[in-house]
Amino acid sequence: MSGLFITLEGPEGAGKSTNREYLAARLREQGIDVVMTREPGGTPLAERIRELLLAPSEEAMAVDTELLLMFAARAQHLAQVIRPALARGAVVLCDRFTDATYAYQGGGRGLPVERIAILESFVQGELRPDLTLVFDLPVEVGLARAAARGRLDRFEQEGQAFFEAVRQAYLQRAGQQPQRYSLLDAAQPLAAVQRAIDALVPGILERCRG
Ligand code: TMP
Repeated sequence: MSGLFITLEGPEGAGKSTNREYLAARLREQGIDVVMTREPGGTPLAERIRELLLAPSEEAMAVDTELLLMFAARAQHLAQVIRPALARGAVVLCDRFTDATYAYQGGGRGLPVERIAILESFVQGELRPDLTLVFDLPVEVGLARAAARGRLDRFEQEGQAFFEAVRQAYLQRAGQQPQRYSLLDAAQPLAAVQRAIDALVPGILERCRG
């Protein structure tokens, strides 16, 4: 038995967490075993790595350090949570995964895609998400929503150009592999986003039961 690996991606302020809860509820009411988790983090050790990654600090973090910490957290998360859940047949709903590395460290920081791809294969082997929901949002809207939530983390302190590059990287990846990605307009009212999620549920259930 093998489960289904679903990831949720997009900028800060796109409503990923709210919509992850919503999708989880829709699947659970159909009797599906759902595991909700997030990156960076998802295990106690990986959450400690997350703290290192998000805390603003006097010492600038080298881009390669950032990249390696993302994959260090991911290796732990895969071993402790994601692979065991998939092996028992659960649906894993993960708030961010390696697409975020391509978008933020690749698009935002400008790291070569090839370097990320090497680590992706090293840490994940053949494992890739079965389905990725990309919550797309104009940069200004996302930044305003994140700012309204309070103190900004190390990524949220980046400027408009960084987040434009992140957005373009997500859109490019979604465009290249339309069978794996579902692009959702996160600027719509929440009820409309949730109707779009409802439309995905039958296909997800079919894949779980097939
Ligand atoms: P969030 O989960 O609260 O959105 O914060 C996580 C931050 O980490 C977010 O700004 C995106 C960033 N991030 C990366 O830069 N690369 C990654 O691979 C992941 C998973 C997250």
